Amino acid sequence: MGKVFRKQVFVCTTEGEGRCAPKGGLEVLRKFREEVKARGLSDILVTKVGCTGQHPTGPTVIVHPDGLWYRTVKPQDVAEIIEKHIVGGQPVERLINPEMQVKPQ
Ligand code: FES
Repeated sequence: MGKVFRKQVFVCTTEGEGRCAPKGGLEVLRKFREEVKARGLSDILVTKVGCTGQHPTGPTVIVHPDGLWYRTVKPQDVAEIIEKHIVGGQPVERLINPEMQVKPQ
């Protein structure tokens, strides 16, 4: 079997006016990668994702398999998301996008 990850963090880095990159998506991606590496979280995969239609409240971050979407994420929010959600299992309520979630029925 190949590598097994515990969670995957998708960060929208789409370029274009009003999209997530000019709102800081690339810095958020970089910060997630830095923090995951610094903490030795080798079972956490951080990847870019394309537009999900949520850029009015971007940068968008999605945590899989939790089906949880964050909005207006700033680089300074990343340590908190990692600490509370990725490590601690408690989503950061103030950043949750209430418009979007994925829930198995
Ligand atoms: S560009 Fe990021 S959600 Fe659309």
